[in-house]
Amino acid sequence: MAKAFAASISIVESKAALNPANRQVIDVPSSFRILEQECSSSSSSLASADDEVRVVSLAEYKEAALSLAEAFAEDDVARYFIDVPDREHWTEAEKWKLHVDILEYVTYAHCLKGLVTTVGANYGAVALWMPPGQNMDDFLTILRSGMWRLNYKLSAEGKRRFFNEFLPLLHDAKQAVLGERDDDAWYLVYIGTRPNSRGKGYARKLIEHVTKRADREGRPCYLESSNDVNPKIYRKMGFEEVRRIHLQRGPKNVDLDIMVREPAGYEKNRIEEVKLAHL
Ligand SMILES: CC(C)(COP(=O)(O)OP(=O)(O)OC[C@H]1O[C@@H](n2cnc3c(N)ncnc32)[C@H](O)[C@@H]1OP(=O)(O)O)[C@@H](O)C(=O)NCCC(=O)NCCS
Repeated sequence: MAKAFAASISIVESKAALNPANRQVIDVPSSFRILEQECSSSSSSLASADDEVRVVSLAEYKEAALSLAEAFAEDDVARYFIDVPDREHWTEAEKWKLHVDILEYVTYAHCLKGLVTTVGANYGAVALWMPPGQNMDDFLTILRSGMWRLNYKLSAEGKRRFFNEFLPLLHDAKQAVLGERDDDAWYLVYIGTRPNSRGKGYARKLIEHVTKRADREGRPCYLESSNDVNPKIYRKMGFEEVRRIHLQRGPKNVDLDIMVREPAGYEKNRIEEVKLAHL
């Protein structure tokens, strides 16, 4: 999936005109943290205040992406493409803008081809799912979502990390772990809860919204966890670690845990087989 995606992006870039006017410069803020607070307080009134999971529409992609940007502001993987030696001269404001841009593209692509859900006031938590058999590699999705812009928004090292290392690593790991079930799984691509909305059960609600369906369908769910604390959280919802992968181009490795949740009633032996094959 990811390899095709990288190839499509360069095709789109060569066809689309690059518009320097798209490069916005934002004023001053000195850290991601300050920007987060400003964004939180000015977020849209479109948001739902109730605690029911609902599907995010295309019209709301910016609000959903901003919520994810805040949730992932300090995430090592999110920063892996931005905190690069050839962008050392960038201000935190410029880095934050790129971080938000990336999440807007990805969120829009998931509104088009996947499932985007939210719960809580002000998009308290947001999940991006890719349903079985779907991906966002096609030309039209890359064009419409703006993903092609990564080709000029990321630095040379950012591109190497994203296109040559990260995407192939994720693609290969998913294929190796799921094998013939690769097209049969629900893929939790992103889940994030705004810092001020954590601990209210939102992530659990968003995950169970799909895992209940996956159970009915008899399908596995798949995710990559980018944080040492998270496997413990996902284990509570039935996921198990099956493999650990590493991003190695930075000053220190960034580790990701691959986790799979088998559908209810799935043979326990099969899970052990998958773990033995990949640990
Ligand atoms: C991981 C994250 C999505 C959890 O969101 P949340 O809405 O606070 O989680 P919930 O309130 O639904 O908690 C779910 C369960 O995990 C537990 N939990 C949540 N945060 C925890 C923590 N830091 N340490 C231990 N357990 C934790 C809760 O107690 C709860 O257990 P319970 O249902 O048995 O009571 C959120 O912390 C986050 O956005 N982190 C930053 C972004 C990120 O890492 N995303 C995931 C990338 S793989």
